[in-house]
Amino acid sequence: MRNLNDDVAEILIGADDLQDRIAELGRQITRDYAGKQPLLVGVLKGAVVFMVDLSRRIDLPVEIDFMAVSSYGSSTQSLGVVRILKDLDQGIDRRDVLVVEDIVDTGLTLRYIVDNLRDRSPASVRICALLQKRKARETGPPIDYLGFEIPDRFVVGYGLDYAEHYRNLPYVGVLRPEIYQIGQVEK
Ligand code: IMP
Ligand code: MG
Repeated sequence: MRNLNDDVAEILIGADDLQDRIAELGRQITRDYAGKQPLLVGVLKGAVVFMVDLSRRIDLPVEIDFMAVSSYGSSTQSLGVVRILKDLDQGIDRRDVLVVEDIVDTGLTLRYIVDNLRDRSPASVRICALLQKRKARETGPPIDYLGFEIPDRFVVGYGLDYAEHYRNLPYVGVLRPEIYQIGQVEK
């Protein structure tokens, strides 16, 4: 049986470090939104794992909803052209919206989502991202709550995929180069 861990060349952020940082983010969000009922908006599918763990660290009556977008480009590079595949189930008029994203690479996807949500007259829109690549600081929107800044490398695990695989790894890591050279992941 093939083991997913064997495809990983390097662990960038271990499972315990992820959970410790998420607990801190949860405490910070709990303080900042005291007295409010924020709506967490997760961006499918990558943000699901992070959103589940984060929501359990927020000690407030949160609600959750999801959006799915497609960003055109190859599996490892985004072009910034975005289309909404699944919209929110509810309106966000006067709501405090916290967009939860797995990773900000160019930041173009997130910029599109945030601009789109701001047009729906919410009380506020803020961003919580688990990871940000260094280069995103120039092109992406400002991140209000950030887990970790990482080098400009393609990462998998903890919700992040390569060809839909590796989302269930409990840590964030870098794949062995042969995996991309094969061009597809064995099922
Ligand atoms: P951006 O528009 O360039 O910021 O790309 C955003 C989306 O591309 C993220 O929400 C991820 O779904 C995906 N993505 C970007 N970088 C990575 C990566 O290193 N690993 C896995 N997915 C990534
Ligand atoms: Mg994503």
